[in-house]
Amino acid sequence: MKAGVGAPTRAQIPERTLRTDRWWAYPLSTGAILAFFIVYATARIFMNNYYWAPEEHYLTPVYSPCLSASCVPGSSHFGTPLPEVPPFLPMAVVTFVILAGFRGTCYYYRKAGYRSFFLAPAACAVPEPHRKYTGESRFPLILLNAHRYFFYGAFIFGLINVYDAVLAFHGKDGGIGMGLGTVIILINLVMLWGYTLSCHACRHVVGGRLKHFSKHPLRYRYWTFVSRLNARHGQFAMISLFTVIFTDAYIMAVSAGWITDLRIFN
Ligand code: FES
Repeated sequence: MKAGVGAPTRAQIPERTLRTDRWWAYPLSTGAILAFFIVYATARIFMNNYYWAPEEHYLTPVYSPCLSASCVPGSSHFGTPLPEVPPFLPMAVVTFVILAGFRGTCYYYRKAGYRSFFLAPAACAVPEPHRKYTGESRFPLILLNAHRYFFYGAFIFGLINVYDAVLAFHGKDGGIGMGLGTVIILINLVMLWGYTLSCHACRHVVGGRLKHFSKHPLRYRYWTFVSRLNARHGQFAMISLFTVIFTDAYIMAVSAGWITDLRIFN
């Protein structure tokens, strides 16, 4: 038996959709952005190079923390517990799994991905091409429910990014200094924390499973704060995607010597 709009109990309309607006613009543009990010991130993690600018102490978030014995000197702020990695394998595999897992299972990106890549559905009142609907109750989509655990990982990585940002206040002649890269890293840090703290799983961690907020005033405060951010989660998701790419591209360019970091002082 047909399901969805094709079900026998639904009105049978010959047109694919009665919408006359440009409903396809959102899934098309979002799909193009996500596809670009996937290609960029894949190329970047296999590069295994240009992730650390030694004079400025800039470490790209894509390779942070650098935990392999293959990491260039100075870039491993937390030691090298992982062995050397052959050049054809990504040394940032731990970072990649956590961060890609966090974004890949994010409720916002799930919506974006379903609309843009699977057309399920592409937009409201536009029927999807699939005949069956099983939701996220079966393998492999049931794995998306691991989002909360990726959130815990991303939270720890966020703290590591704070540490990296502090180190980016390094003067070229020693002591404290600041360059354009420091500013870019800080902006990215704010966006990453906006994205992480506005996560739906975070909202549940701080305010879920409570019967009475009145008995937990502190958690109520956190929950109110996170709820405000949560309303903008989609914006944080998209903006932080661009800030991560831009930060990584800038540090790559400085590290490779393609550009010189613009110094604000020292
Ligand atoms: Fe998007 Fe958690 S829902 S990061």
